[in-house]
Amino acid sequence: MNNTNQTSEDFLHLVETTARQAAKTAGAIALKYLNESSPQEKGASNNMVTRADIEAQQAIADCIRGTFPEHSFLGEEGDKDAAVEAALKAEHLWVVDPIDGTNNYAQGIPFFCVSIAYLSHGVPRFGLVYDPSREELFCARKGGGAYLNDKAIRVSQASGIDGAIVATGFAYERGEYVRRTLRTIQALFDHKLRGIRRFGACAIDLCWTAAGRLDGYFELKLEPWDYAAGMLIVAEAGGRVSDAEGESLAIGAPAVVASAPGMHDALLKIIDEAQ
Ligand code: IPD
Ligand code: CA
Ligand code: CA
Repeated sequence: MNNTNQTSEDFLHLVETTARQAAKTAGAIALKYLNESSPQEKGASNNMVTRADIEAQQAIADCIRGTFPEHSFLGEEGDKDAAVEAALKAEHLWVVDPIDGTNNYAQGIPFFCVSIAYLSHGVPRFGLVYDPSREELFCARKGGGAYLNDKAIRVSQASGIDGAIVATGFAYERGEYVRRTLRTIQALFDHKLRGIRRFGACAIDLCWTAAGRLDGYFELKLEPWDYAAGMLIVAEAGGRVSDAEGESLAIGAPAVVASAPGMHDALLKIIDEAQ
């Protein structure tokens, strides 16, 4: 290994250990307040924030800034070094969702996670998703495969919609996004889908797709922190990840389609037809 590779290997190792420590700390904060959360609505209706979201994000930011004080930070809960578009140009950027699945969390449903991604010039190089309720930690380095609790994972072998289990989500912003999602679900059932799931945490949906528990996942209106880590984990598990048009997913795109490669085109076609 030459010096450059060695340096980049060491750097990514530090990125990973920092992310792991931050995620474990945030997960512990979330578990501590579970069942005693007092959610407040923010922005679009149905979009909640709890004390745990704020404290968990603060803990993650402290941890990252402690190790990498010069890196940029983009967290869902207001702690943004720059607007999304500008942030994505940064050489070193951390994109963080302290609790993905806040509606579940605020309701006492133990289905939520911490999502942390490290990006360079808008491209995810490392992603980690930690589900503290199941003690499941998913992670991936670009080019290095995807792992669940340190065991390699792969997407499913699904080759079409017939018999597949697909997850989705409904945008906080009601209206056309939700109607289009419902039309897509109907069309999927017309193509003999085995089942649809709406678990309520995009990052877990992506990781469960990466692990082959789900054959695919789509959602039409997301934010960078929802999928920055999960998209890399799916890709490194051998899956396909794209926007709704089938183009490679750029951070900031609203729609995400992720699936086993054998069914991706069929899923895209149905989403397109349900417009
Ligand atoms: C939400 C979850 C949900 C998805 C929403 C997201 P939040 O994130 O990932 O599953 O349907 O679109 O905004 O608000 O719980 O962090
Ligand atoms: Ca989220
Ligand atoms: Ca969140």
